[in-house]
Amino acid sequence: MRQIVYVSLSSVLGDAADLAGILTQSRHNNAIDGITGLLWSDGKSFLQVLEGPRASVEPCFSRIVQDSRHHFIRVLSDTRITAHQFGGWNMVHRRADDRADLHDAQMNRLLTNASHSVRTQFTTLVATGNVAT
Ligand SMILES: Cc1cc2nc3c(=O)[nH]c(=O)nc-3n(C[C@H](O)[C@H](O)[C@H](O)COP(=O)(O)O)c2cc1C
Repeated sequence: MRQIVYVSLSSVLGDAADLAGILTQSRHNNAIDGITGLLWSDGKSFLQVLEGPRASVEPCFSRIVQDSRHHFIRVLSDTRITAHQFGGWNMVHRRADDRADLHDAQMNRLLTNASHSVRTQFTTLVATGNVAT
């Protein structure tokens, strides 16, 4: 299996970003494709983990790269894995008025089985707004 972790910038700022649309599309497609992972967004940036069979992850990531709803896509890691680190496909989104501690607790639950490096990338982004390189 293949696991890709990337960050990008949303083309539309804040809650106007088409997060509901992305979520619906992704849940539908990823269930068919056997892809799991996590999509995090604070309304400005995205950080996504995509994992599953190579034959599914490659075309999925190609579609995502071409999507005009985000830009400046940067791959943080691209690795072979032998087991899913994320049991399902989830999305965490912090709105401006959400409590940060509740949001972080939700993130930590989703990251329970993630590798150390994936967890560090997420927690650094959430804590600082910047990605660990
Ligand atoms: C930040 C972001 C994350 C996305 N994640 C996924 C995903 O995990 N799976 C997926 O199929 N599409 C995802 N998409 C949507 C794809 O870019 C593309 O629009 C979609 O796969 C097309 O599916 P359709 O042909 O069924 O409409 C994402 C888009 C964005 C902007």
